[in-house]
Amino acid sequence: MTTHDITLTVNGTAHDLTVESRTLLVHALRDDLGYTGTNVGCETSMCGACTVLVDDEAVKSCTLLAAACDGGEVRTVEDLADGSELHPLQEAFSQEHGLQCGYCTPGMLMTSVDLLADDPDPSREEIREALEGNLCRCTGYQNIVNAVESAARTMRPATDGGRGGGGD
Ligand code: FES
Ligand code: FES
Repeated sequence: MTTHDITLTVNGTAHDLTVESRTLLVHALRDDLGYTGTNVGCETSMCGACTVLVDDEAVKSCTLLAAACDGGEVRTVEDLADGSELHPLQEAFSQEHGLQCGYCTPGMLMTSVDLLADDPDPSREEIREALEGNLCRCTGYQNIVNAVESAARTMRPATDGGRGGGGD
């Protein structure tokens, strides 16, 4: 069994760990480091439940070998809330009923974080496109799109002329 000594920085904290060559990032996060907010669904890159940010890009952590992420910066759903204060996306998912069982939600949130970092004012179509790799068997997606749209409004500077911000 070949092992690798790697360093992963997760939510700002550096962790040294030893992983097997075959260890997937999602298992390193959950099983080795205890970041169990990231869910495992299909393990075949279909469902998006395992989505995290690696070096600021949303990735399906069941598709990456942990060893390949050595030195990387990982952000998981645990990093979104600030103490008891929810991230605007979390608040919007709650307010807009963007979740039911919640299994898809960590992945939905992390994909949405990436989307809004790249595009603070996405159209509904762009939101749907960004989330097409994240499956939800509960909500029918409408409320998820509403939530991301609502969070985008909240997160944009109040003076912008965004799509939903009252500008032209
Ligand atoms: S568990 Fe990774 S995409 Fe489904
Ligand atoms: S809320 Fe149940 S899978 Fe999305």
